[in-house]
Amino acid sequence: FYRAAASPPSCNFLLLGPGGAGKTAFTTLLEGKSSLASKKSHLTHTSQASTLVSVTLPPAVPTASNRYRSVNDPSLKEASRNPIRYRLKDTPGHGKLRTSQGIAELQSMSSSKDVKTKIRGLLFMIDTAALVDEANLRDAATYLHDVLLVLQKRSMGKGKSSTKREADIPVLVAANKQDLFTSLPPGSVREKLEAEIDRIRKSKTKGLMDASMDSGLDAEEDVLGDDDAQGVFTFKLLEQVGIKVDVVGGAVKGDPQEEYGSGVRRWEEWIGMCL
Ligand code: GTP
Ligand code: MG
Repeated sequence: FYRAAASPPSCNFLLLGPGGAGKTAFTTLLEGKSSLASKKSHLTHTSQASTLVSVTLPPAVPTASNRYRSVNDPSLKEASRNPIRYRLKDTPGHGKLRTSQGIAELQSMSSSKDVKTKIRGLLFMIDTAALVDEANLRDAATYLHDVLLVLQKRSMGKGKSSTKREADIPVLVAANKQDLFTSLPPGSVREKLEAEIDRIRKSKTKGLMDASMDSGLDAEEDVLGDDDAQGVFTFKLLEQVGIKVDVVGGAVKGDPQEEYGSGVRRWEEWIGMCL
């Protein structure tokens, strides 16, 4: 039972990812768990606009500030009396809407100085059963590449202009639909994404080099990871520029008693560690 007068949500999380990944199902699930009044069913149509919902972190999920508490800790009781709330922004994943919505949202939220709109963490959701299809893999990797490039530019730009360091934005690749037997496990999702982003990055580097021979443009800052792109791309490379990427499996739907079925809890734990 949550009191109506719970503290207002103070942190924002942005939810991105390709169409059909399960973003709206996830958002609806969290919203439903957070409010007794809401009895919304899972909307399963393609989203065309972003929505912002207020969500309650389950009291048992630790946050960065209270992670060492024990079950007998009075702060745990305090947490269930006054639960931690955050906001989650669901965006449409359709290819035609990404630039105008998901990426635009990321750009404005990641450069915002206002705590009300500032972004604390980014969730990139993927349908891990769809990834066996090459076209889906390329689509997901291209979107993720573009998202990571926005974050890289942000973190490389901030050192130059201001002395005040902005907080880094961690990324969770939420490997959804682990309940499906055709789904890829998180480890292999990571490998496939890294290999595909590597391909995208190499072909982009080549294109930029050809273009800069003619125009003299500086191509370096448009390449993800290390600037010469000689080595193979890994998410670990991005830690040099302050971007931490975690790949964690889960399932919005499906039986929570099953083995895969930490359900969405491990994503909530990731969110908790950002708070
Ligand atoms: P866009 O709005 O087009 O960007 O898609 P979305 O990411 O919001 O996907 P949505 O939430 O609409 O879910 C797409 C379909 O996947 C729906 O039919 C969901 O019921 C289904 N789905 C979501 N999560 C899971 C899951 O964990 N397992 C299974 N089996 N199906 C899921
Ligand atoms: Mg949707």
